[in-house]
Amino acid sequence: MVCLGNICRSPLAAGVLRKKLKERNVEAVVDSAGFEPYHIGEGPDERTFEIAKKYNVDISSHSMRLFKVEDFDKYDLIYVMDQRNLRDVHFLARNEDDQKKVDYLMNALEPGQNKIVPDPYYGDIADFEHAYELMEKACDKIADSLK
Ligand code: 4NP
Repeated sequence: MVCLGNICRSPLAAGVLRKKLKERNVEAVVDSAGFEPYHIGEGPDERTFEIAKKYNVDISSHSMRLFKVEDFDKYDLIYVMDQRNLRDVHFLARNEDDQKKVDYLMNALEPGQNKIVPDPYYGDIADFEHAYELMEKACDKIADSLK
């Protein structure tokens, strides 16, 4: 799961997907990363934490990290939240195989629609709640498809 800051959307999306995979007894490695280095090593935004707590999603071990080229080797699926994340990840792709792993998270729910999970960072708790609702539906689909 990739976003810009790796403190709001992608840690929550990774936590939600981990939870849904666990519920289905699917084993997978799920991680998140970002591109904006301001918050390296920090935990999630406190509003993300609040939403995670509300929905019983464990993101307590999250530490902000940057996306790296090796992530293309380690992960089969790379989900981005918005157009900027897609550009950022595509910029580091070495070849077509790398590029093919990348898609909008919301395309898991509505293929080809390229809908985004809007950045809630400059918003309020309602924007975080909205982001959660979107990613929850998409992660349900992903977990079902991996079962
Ligand atoms: P995120 O939100 O991409 O959902 O983690 C952001 C968090 C921090 C910043 C930008 C977006 N930032 O510029 O610090």
